[in-house]
Amino acid sequence: MKKTLALLLSVLMLVTLLAACGGDSGTPDTSGDSQQEENAGTPEEPSNDEPEAPAAGGTVGVCIYQFTDAFMTTYRNALQEILESKGYNVTTVDGANDQAKQNEQINTFITQGVDALIINPVMTSAADQIIATVQAAGIPTVLINREPTADQMAVYDKLVYVGCDARQSGTMQGELILDTPNGGDINGDGKVSYIMVQGDPENVDAQYRTEFSVKALTDAGVEVEELNLTRGDWMRERGQEIVANDLAQFGSAVEVVFCNNDDMAIGALQAIQAAGRKVNEDIYLVGVDALDAALEEVKNGNMTGTVLNDANGQATAAVEQMELLLGGKTFAAGEQSVYVDYVKVTPDNVGDFMG
Ligand code: GAL
Repeated sequence: MKKTLALLLSVLMLVTLLAACGGDSGTPDTSGDSQQEENAGTPEEPSNDEPEAPAAGGTVGVCIYQFTDAFMTTYRNALQEILESKGYNVTTVDGANDQAKQNEQINTFITQGVDALIINPVMTSAADQIIATVQAAGIPTVLINREPTADQMAVYDKLVYVGCDARQSGTMQGELILDTPNGGDINGDGKVSYIMVQGDPENVDAQYRTEFSVKALTDAGVEVEELNLTRGDWMRERGQEIVANDLAQFGSAVEVVFCNNDDMAIGALQAIQAAGRKVNEDIYLVGVDALDAALEEVKNGNMTGTVLNDANGQATAAVEQMELLLGGKTFAAGEQSVYVDYVKVTPDNVGDFMG
């Protein structure tokens, strides 16, 4: 009888102890999958108000659209570092610019029972399918870098997008040209003649930067002439090839080279130098991202300027949002995009961005 009572008492104590631990998500969770078990056993809490304190630890699957992308390399390294420093078990995979491959990777992560996913989609047009998959599995998910529409995201409340508003970066590129001594009109013929080296046009980043860089000029009352627009898919070699061809075709008529990102601008610079042209004297060149190589060229006067695409800031925000999701936060439709600001980089402030 005494024994039974003692047993009953210890069971009671254990239950009380477990209940107390369940409510304390601030306790680091290093076991990998206990977070998910915890979520599975907890009834849905639709409240947006007071998310629990973030639970460090657990497993995170990170899907990157393509490892050879220079900017996304900086970004994924930052993500990995932040997540690991917080005690998460992280696996980062390369989608190799292949949506079918990325879909498989997402499914594998789900089968493995990851606690959260951070996904940089290969194609924004595949967002519906990606969202349906993570929703069916109930995995808290942060989308990064390639923004779906608000409607696409609205179907799943454990989903958030972290990125930048690409319109802002386009406008800043245009302003960098407006701020030059002749406002981009090097030959003084009353108009700015430019070539546009575009990223992957499937991305809003490429679409908006292309549109808003030029819009900044026309909004300021400047006449523009587009000599050529070619897609370079964010890649340095493509930037080099495209600008070499354009310079061969249009020669000194080219006053401004707009590149949707820095890696293509570095390629463009190689072509500009090979053609015997000199940036900031007989041609202007701008990019976006503030890659280390581009900062160096801005400092040396070989690029007119660039725009900081804050990889660290975005990685930090992505992890913050992921932890809020893990703590039980849900997102209302129309409030699922978190933006980090771009910053204009010129020779005057470039030192602030160099490590
Ligand atoms: C952009 C970035 C590009 C490329 C692209 C991939 O934000 O500026 O360099 O990384 O994302 O989607």
